Amino acid sequence: MMEKIYRDADVDASILKDKTIAVIGYGIQGKAQAANTRDSGFRVIIGTRDPSESPSRGQASADRFESMNVVDATKKADVLLIELADPVQPAIFKRDILPNLRAGQTLCFCHGFSVLYGQVQPPKNVNTVLFVPNAPGRFVREKFLKGEGIYGCVSVDHDATGDAMKIVLAIAKAVGSTRAGVVEMTFQHETEGDNFEEQILYGGAIALMKACFNTMVENGYPPSFAYAKAIRSLRSVIDVMDEIGIEAYVSTGCSRTCEFALRTRGPRVINEDEIRKIFKETEAGVFARDWMQEFALGMPTLHRMRRTGTNSVMEKTGAQWRAEFGK
Ligand SMILES: NC(=O)c1ccc[n+]([C@@H]2O[C@H](COP(=O)([O-])OP(=O)(O)OC[C@H]3O[C@@H](n4cnc5c(N)ncnc54)[C@H](OP(=O)(O)O)[C@@H]3O)[C@@H](O)[C@H]2O)c1
Repeated sequence: MMEKIYRDADVDASILKDKTIAVIGYGIQGKAQAANTRDSGFRVIIGTRDPSESPSRGQASADRFESMNVVDATKKADVLLIELADPVQPAIFKRDILPNLRAGQTLCFCHGFSVLYGQVQPPKNVNTVLFVPNAPGRFVREKFLKGEGIYGCVSVDHDATGDAMKIVLAIAKAVGSTRAGVVEMTFQHETEGDNFEEQILYGGAIALMKACFNTMVENGYPPSFAYAKAIRSLRSVIDVMDEIGIEAYVSTGCSRTCEFALRTRGPRVINEDEIRKIFKETEAGVFARDWMQEFALGMPTLHRMRRTGTNSVMEKTGAQWRAEFGK
């Protein structure tokens, strides 16, 4: 399938020239995207909760941004980058943003969840778009400062002004992502793809590391050895595979014993039927429903699991390991 990739030369960011861009939420992504957009020459203001409630307000002011509450930032903005934590977006949108929107503004989300599942319902007289750099905020900023960018995606869910795509591409350019390349996709694919990746890759990889550690310790291995095998050895391997490709790593970057081990036994530890089942559940909205229920109840499952996780032998070993052998 051919994908259209937008790079710097394809995008004219001057459409943002006389616009005020309000970054709503100054956290992991908001801080990075605000700094990059300002360094690209655009007018950026920050909207957060009141200083008494918001740890990030002081940081935004310390970083020399004009910062204010969300209501005032919404009124002043032409473009709003919604960089609030996803679960709090619906309440803040309803209370502070929605009543203060005016026709022709652009709401740019950094994840499609709230809009896809109807938790945030923007009015039809504003643009609803999405721009997501595919990395945590720290890397978005670090790459930008090196003159590079993070691959990302853009999407237009509703085009009220006729130039919503130009606006969202200009945002992607201002943040630095068109230096690497951005692709167009739907809110649905961005959201479900992200949720799927988190369940399968993050969830699966962590479950695998735990199973590796627990099996070795149960069989009498020194915990520090099991920990080094279960976590530390993966770190360098991932970087190499990302740089040169899986096949090049497997056939030239590791030993022949390792190649034989991973090619013949690796697939046995993965349950592809279960992966496909989780994909279908994600597409059917089952994951989103479960998560919204969990959040609405005050996250009881997560609180319980955090306690168990923190007290586990593996976590205790990890803390000792880092103290003794380095980070
Ligand atoms: N983390 C990433 O690198 C990443 C990557 C790709 C996409 N995204 C997307 O980017 C968006 C922002 O994510 P993030 O990770 O940057 O968020 P975050 O750092 O967890 O939080 C962003 C802001 O949300 C506000 N917030 C948190 N809890 C709140 C509450 N109970 N009431 C009011 N405000 C609250 C905080 O402001 P206060 O200081 O006022 O508390 C915080 O600065 C999300 O849509 C996310 O899916 C994130």
